[in-house]
Amino acid sequence: MTDALPVTFTAGDAGQWRIDRIIAVTGDGLPAAARLLIREGAAEDESWLSGSSATDAPGWTLRGTVSHQRYTTAAELAELTARSPALGRPGATVASFIPITKSKEWWELAQDERRQIFEETSHHIRRSMNSLPAVARRLHHSRDGGGPFDFLTWFEYAPESVADFDELLDELRSTEEWIFVEREVEVRLSLG
Ligand code: HEM
Repeated sequence: MTDALPVTFTAGDAGQWRIDRIIAVTGDGLPAAARLLIREGAAEDESWLSGSSATDAPGWTLRGTVSHQRYTTAAELAELTARSPALGRPGATVASFIPITKSKEWWELAQDERRQIFEETSHHIRRSMNSLPAVARRLHHSRDGGGPFDFLTWFEYAPESVADFDELLDELRSTEEWIFVEREVEVRLSLG
């Protein structure tokens, strides 16, 4: 990974993805909208977004940044890189966009304590590695930008993988890591 990549998610009446449903998993949800538009690049290059009819529609905008890895060991990173497919594959016609905020208690932990919970106790990487290469993913950090969420997580897969993805979600939500999740919204999407 080189420079951090800013990414903007705008829910409204425009965009590649149709929003099928929005579920408030923990805490407040997000307002209903018809479509999700994903733009890569700095916000100042996106002036076309403001003042257009797209922003007059009910909706919301969340911004995040694709950043460096915080927790992965070299061995984990090598395996992830080898097994992870690219976004935008033909056939990956459904997606989940899951914004997440973790608690003050999480952020007050030291880096080694967080890694301990994230992987040694909760096995986030080990569990979810089984979903590769069926699921293509991208993690966006948004805590430092002052937005309402700490993370904007994005997953793309084929309709045949929906049940497996739901199983992974259930598993992750039963881990110690998720005790620290104080807001989580699940946005289910499809192409078309
Ligand atoms: C972080 C892998 C699924 C939510 C991470 C990291 C890895 C990873 C390697 C650590 C990145 C780092 O070192 O900074 C995967 C894989 C998945 C998967 C391979 C399989 C599809 C999920 C799902 C969710 C999720 C389904 C949400 C429901 C998160 C969050 C973080 C994260 C919020 C950031 C944690 C933090 O920094 O505190 N994931 N993940 N992941 N993942 Fe996953």
